[in-house]
This record gives sequence, C-alpha cells and structure tokens, in this order.
Amino acid sequence: MKHLIAPSILSADFANLQSDIEMINQSEADWFHVDVMDGVFVPNISFGFPVITAIKHHAKKPLDVHLMIVDPDRYLQQFKDAGAAILTVHYEACTHLHRTIAAIHELGMKAGVAINPHTPVSVLEDILPQIDLVCIMSVNPGFGGQKFIENTYQKITKLRTLAKQLNTEVLIEIDGGVGHQNALALIKAGADVLVAGNAVFGAQNPMEMITELKKIR
Ligand code: DX5
Ligand code: ZN
Repeated sequence: MKHLIAPSILSADFANLQSDIEMINQSEADWFHVDVMDGVFVPNISFGFPVITAIKHHAKKPLDVHLMIVDPDRYLQQFKDAGAAILTVHYEACTHLHRTIAAIHELGMKAGVAINPHTPVSVLEDILPQIDLVCIMSVNPGFGGQKFIENTYQKITKLRTLAKQLNTEVLIEIDGGVGHQNALALIKAGADVLVAGNAVFGAQNPMEMITELKKIR
C-alpha cells in the first residue's frame, strides 16, 4: 500500500484556518489529522467541537481525529456529528477499550488506538483484530514540534509482526516529529500513515513538502 500523509492541523495558522484547509484540499495529502487535547490527559488544551465542525465544513478529505482526552466515551457521538471519519482514542485513557472500540464502530467511524512512547505494542494483542488503526506516538503527546523518539522504529517492526501473527490488517500511523529526515525509514519499517505538523506548516512551501513526503518510497 502506498503510504498516506496526514498533516496535523495543530500546527496550522488558527487565524487563517480556512486557507490552510484549502491548501490541504489542493495538496496530495490524504487525511486531516485533528488533535483534541483536554488539559488532563495531556498538559495542553487544543480545540473542541466548534472548530472541528468548522474544519469539516471546508475539508474535502477525511478527518482523522486523535483524542488526547480522558473518558472519551462521553463524547463519541459528538465527534461523529462534528465530522470524524477515523476516531482514535488512547490506550492509556480507556478502562474498557473493547467497549469503546465497539461504540466507535456502531457510530459508523473507523476506530484507532494510540499508544504513548512508554506503552509496549504487546498490550494491543487482544484488541488488534478489532481495530482499524494503531497510532504509535513518537513523541510524548501534547505539543507539536517535538523531537522524534528513535525507539519508535522497533515498535513498528514489533507491531507489524504481531499483526501478521494474528492475521489481521491494521494501519500503522506514526505521530510526532515526523518529517523529511525520517519518513523513508518509517515507511521501510512498516508505517502506513505519517502525521506531520511542524514539518508541513513550518516549511517554506507546505504544499511542496506534502508532495515530497508523499513521493518518498
Ligand atoms: C502531538 C500531536 C501531534 C502533533 C504532531 O501530541 O498528537 O499530532 O501535532 O506535530 P509534529 O509533527 O510537529 O511533531
Ligand atoms: Zn496527533
């Protein structure tokens, strides 16, 4: 499968969000990565439903919504209504993950599970056949523009092996510190989806950077 590129809106210009959304629409990007932070699960607060609804209104590509919030079960319906196509919850934030995944599917969304840098991929063994995507955090969640954690490569390899053993298909998404410098190595290790915030929006020409990231093979 050709890898997917998901620019992270967290690094966009919030005062000119519509033009950044249009740029992504025109670009070769595949998804919009939308980071929701509650100030409890992570030490930062990003944005909520009105902003996601506004993004959805202009976006011509699927919204890949990454919830960095505690107790996400309370809001699944609202994220669906706001326009999420893929809804990713954190393993560390869900006591009854199996139930949460089922609820996301019942609402008609794809379900993802994100794991923090300290969480081994092995904890996903019994949920992997139920989920559509694993988001391996390659930074500690909460902020854009952080340094990529090198240990991520071996987590990708382990997860690929585990998925093969279980004979299940899952998309592997890498989130944090991803850019031109490591994209090829990540794809070679087995990544399917690359999230890029700072690498795209901090580039001289964001659209060209997306083309570059998409072209890598
Ligand atoms: C971090 C977020 C990321 C972030 C990535 O908590 O989940 O999606 O926007 O930003 P960069 O690509 O700048 O590390
Ligand atoms: Zn994210």
